[in-house]
Amino acid sequence: MSSSTVITNIATLVTNDPSLGDNSPLGLIQDAAVVIDGDRIAWTGESSKAPATDNRVDAGGRAVLPGFVDSHSHLVFAGDRTQEFNARMSGRSYTAGGIRTTVAATRAATDAELERNLTHYLAEALRQGTTTFETKSGYGLTVEDESRALRIAARHTDEVTYLGAHIVSPDYADDPAAYVALVTGEMLDACAPHARWIDVFCEKGAFDGDQARAILTAGQAKGLHPRIHANQLSYGPGVQLAVELDAASADHCTHLTDADVDALANSGTVATLLPGAEFSTRAEWPDARRLLDAGVTVALSTDCNPGSSFTSSVPFCIALAVRDMHMTPDEAVWSATAGGAAALRRTDIGHLTPGAYADLTLLDAPSHVHLAYRPGVPLVSGVWRRGVRVV
Ligand code: NIG
Ligand code: FE
Repeated sequence: MSSSTVITNIATLVTNDPSLGDNSPLGLIQDAAVVIDGDRIAWTGESSKAPATDNRVDAGGRAVLPGFVDSHSHLVFAGDRTQEFNARMSGRSYTAGGIRTTVAATRAATDAELERNLTHYLAEALRQGTTTFETKSGYGLTVEDESRALRIAARHTDEVTYLGAHIVSPDYADDPAAYVALVTGEMLDACAPHARWIDVFCEKGAFDGDQARAILTAGQAKGLHPRIHANQLSYGPGVQLAVELDAASADHCTHLTDADVDALANSGTVATLLPGAEFSTRAEWPDARRLLDAGVTVALSTDCNPGSSFTSSVPFCIALAVRDMHMTPDEAVWSATAGGAAALRRTDIGHLTPGAYADLTLLDAPSHVHLAYRPGVPLVSGVWRRGVRVV
């Protein structure tokens, strides 16, 4: 029989289940307790009503929330782009051309080096409260290098994304159509068994709308589900394509027309905002307020990668989203937990309804609002993943 644990004396519990709490989207319960049974949530409610269990943890009047769901990262890579960052902070703009630097370093790395890197950043993310993460290939751009990136990623997460269409491989600079044929043919065949998702960077200088549609529909035919890097650096067809194909998520969403916002609002596609990228590229912020006011479901993730957003910290992204994208602290916390789960089409994470996975973050603060109120402070003081305390 699995053992049960009650965490008591929680000043603020974020359940993300309105009916369990105060009827707000965060489903807040004050003076709360949560019971974990095996790897699942068994009960949430007022501390005084908590059932007896085998083990007891005193939260000491601090806040507990669902573990963060980081639904967008690029963690299978080698090398470093400090020089590029320095150049940007001296006024150079971000063009995504630096992806080639990381492709060269990643191809030259051994499997062991790539896996060491990945586990290093995962441990970093876990210490900051991330209990689920998605990660992508996209720095290999050959059949062998893309498939090995996915094989390595799949040892650490179920949420693996094939991004052979990150940029046109430098080996095909003179023949982009041949690269699209590779991505939708031999490379897809080698990669599909290791991935759940397919992604494409739909942007000037990467892949246009027609190429992106061909790539994503080829992936769908092999059982992969689409998600898109859309409208990051300029206006374009990415968001409309995401909606057309019922992609789980359109990511970045920095340059949107009213028609793009309407399309998202009337779809099952989540807008995933990645403020670490705007911070690290000194780009214009996506307008979260406009999306939320239109009724779009918004997720908040790190985009952790060595080029445009080298942060694994969801709390940092929450602080940016509140300060610079005009989200309320409640909205930002929801988007980094339940929103991330929606972007991965998962109903078993991102909330604390009994039956959900027991993925929890304990803050050294009385409420979740402190994640934005106390930026840069390492507030995460406990993490449970699948019912096991890991931090
Ligand atoms: O999501 N936009 C494309 N891809 C990444 C950046 C990758 C890189 O610069 O290495 C992004 O921002
Ligand atoms: Fe990205």
